[in-house]
Amino acid sequence: MTKTVTKGASRRQFMTGAAATAGMAAAASFVPTRFAIGAKAPVKVGIMLPFSGTYAMLGNSITDAMKLRIEQAGGRLGGRPVEYATIDSEWTPAKGQIKANKLVKKDRVDFVVGPVHSGIAMAMSKVLLRDRMPIWIIPNAGNNLLTRDHCAPHVFRTSFTNWQSAHVAGELMAKEGVKTVVTCTWKYAAGIQMMEAGKASFEKAGGKVIKEIWVPFPDVEFQAYLSEIAALKPDAVFSFYSGGGAIKYVKEFAAAGLRDTIKLYGPGFLTEGVSRAQGEAAEGIKTALHYADNLGTPEDNAFRAAYKKAYGKDPNVFSVQGYDTGSLLLQGMAAVGGDVGARADLIDAMETATFYDSPRGVWRMSKSHNPIQDIYIRRVEKGRQISVGIGAKQLEDPGTGCKMIA
Ligand code: BEZ
Repeated sequence: MTKTVTKGASRRQFMTGAAATAGMAAAASFVPTRFAIGAKAPVKVGIMLPFSGTYAMLGNSITDAMKLRIEQAGGRLGGRPVEYATIDSEWTPAKGQIKANKLVKKDRVDFVVGPVHSGIAMAMSKVLLRDRMPIWIIPNAGNNLLTRDHCAPHVFRTSFTNWQSAHVAGELMAKEGVKTVVTCTWKYAAGIQMMEAGKASFEKAGGKVIKEIWVPFPDVEFQAYLSEIAALKPDAVFSFYSGGGAIKYVKEFAAAGLRDTIKLYGPGFLTEGVSRAQGEAAEGIKTALHYADNLGTPEDNAFRAAYKKAYGKDPNVFSVQGYDTGSLLLQGMAAVGGDVGARADLIDAMETATFYDSPRGVWRMSKSHNPIQDIYIRRVEKGRQISVGIGAKQLEDPGTGCKMIA
């Protein structure tokens, strides 16, 4: 069951200065899709996620689980039926603005859900951060800026910031006695922000990053970089890859013989949802992330069983983020009886939400609208992400520069 807790003060009381002005201006000028409640016009949810390319698995996992959550609640949001407008975000930011514009102007959606890719999120923000835009829920893209300097009252994230799990994974390497590290990642906002966070916490704990290797996104030609790593002989390599690229990277890292002498760490995206495809090459890799396959709570067990029944496969962290996106929509729309025109109340309900029934464990929205959540240390065992402890309890992104933070 999803419950909403109202914090001591209404979230609207936190919105001061520029954020309040921007929020109120948006609320005042917003042209809602008004309708007679009795007519039960559908709520339009725009989905902009990758259904092709290296992140296709992520987009499908999010979509499937979000729809499952809404179906479990009777297939309605605030008593209204739901209509989805779905668009393939593809894998580069180039068309991000055009596609977001289509959802807003042509499909006239009430909510936008997406994307996966941090660079595409920035492209979408050029459209969606403007006044009178639909409420925007980010179910993956961890770009720090969207819940820091660029935060906004109508923007919510149900996933993570790129800082969160990378910060914990950096600390993990130091705790495990690693002294020297080479970073090797895709060069775009997600990789850059994750390497920055992991390097900062690792070096703060006494380690040293001796070389930073940047791979153009979404290239998967890793051989030259792996040879360079072998020559540098670090204690460990710290990497961000995900989806199809992560499968190839982890397999080639092992095939190059590096696993025998060099440890491989990273935010959990490195093995999440792909460890079975990575096979033996992934066994024993330790990562940090806000989900694991063995949490064993009643909420997680129920979710895993329902997801498997619906889709014939095990869920992953991306499915969890999609599921919680469905919960956020349900909570918000229930609070306003399906009236998206009641924008201030809708936003208020969404920002004061706490997710008691999340498969990842209890979490709540920070003042900058990003999950405050546990980060688990996981180890791949027989293709499963096994939690071996909590690396950080209820970790909150600093939200630096967000004007909604008093
Ligand atoms: C990102 O671009 O923010 C991202 C993509 C895949 C996994 C994690 C983060």
